[in-house]
Amino acid sequence: MDLNGKNVIYAGGFGGIGQACVKELLEKGVQNLAILDLTENKELLEALQKSYPATIIHFIQFDVSKKERITAAFKEAVAKMQHFDVLVNGCGIMTDEHVDLTVEINLLGVIHSTLTALPYMDKSAGGRGGIIVNVSSVAGLEATGLFAIYSATKHGVTAFTRCMADKIYFDRFGVSFITICPGITDTNIFRNAHKKVTFEFAQEPAKIFYKAKLQTAEICAKNMIKVMETCKNGGAYILDIGNIEEVTFPELWKPSFESS
Ligand SMILES: NC(=O)c1ccc[n+]([C@@H]2O[C@H](COP(=O)([O-])OP(=O)(O)OC[C@H]3O[C@@H](n4cnc5c(N)ncnc54)[C@H](O)[C@@H]3O)[C@@H](O)[C@H]2O)c1
Repeated sequence: MDLNGKNVIYAGGFGGIGQACVKELLEKGVQNLAILDLTENKELLEALQKSYPATIIHFIQFDVSKKERITAAFKEAVAKMQHFDVLVNGCGIMTDEHVDLTVEINLLGVIHSTLTALPYMDKSAGGRGGIIVNVSSVAGLEATGLFAIYSATKHGVTAFTRCMADKIYFDRFGVSFITICPGITDTNIFRNAHKKVTFEFAQEPAKIFYKAKLQTAEICAKNMIKVMETCKNGGAYILDIGNIEEVTFPELWKPSFESS
């Protein structure tokens, strides 16, 4: 998809990866950009609008853990932009001690945001189709034991996004689904990571992660945009240490049917 002239909603656009991605989208010349986030970053918003006067940038406050706030935010976004072509679900937390909140934000938030967006995009109901990009993690591909709750929610995001890419949905909605699995990226979520483990006694072993190679949010964002431009329905990508690797999922099970 050529992002130039498109209308984009970025949920979590003021986060580390979000900010970097938003800048790349502005570089691509999107027409309207709605940033949905928990708190406004007024200074950044003004600076971005000044640097990219051709794009209309909107901020819509929302809490992705509250279904009614998601509904209201999409309503407001559509009132402001008429339609949108791209949705990025990029909100997330890593705080395993808060089990319910982690599930509410990382998994239920992505599901509700996706299901709220679809009727607006649905080609079979007069919408224009488009892309929904869900930000999972490498921890949504590999069981990452020290962060069991986070990893479980991200596996959920990966599975949900792959399910939504099913041909039966694509043929009806005309919406492509992409899963992004960043590796360790230098943002707030990773800072003090050892304190965010599932069990306190695992804090010391978790410090091993500080020895891992990091990528910057900027390189992650550049690669995210490249992947979005391919618009490959069902594509899942590891974006780690500056590289893009498409994931090939093994078929582990299929139903056995009675022979008639
Ligand atoms: N940084 C990494 O190492 C890494 C690795 C893999 C995946 N990710 C994923 O990338 C995404 C972006 O994370 P990041 O690294 O930029 O971290 P970040 O903490 O900088 O950004 C997280 C964003 O989520 C928003 N958010 C959190 N709770 C919210 C809520 N209740 N309602 C609305 N917005 C809320 C925050 O305001 C922020 O904009 C997350 O989904 C994260 O899980 C990050």
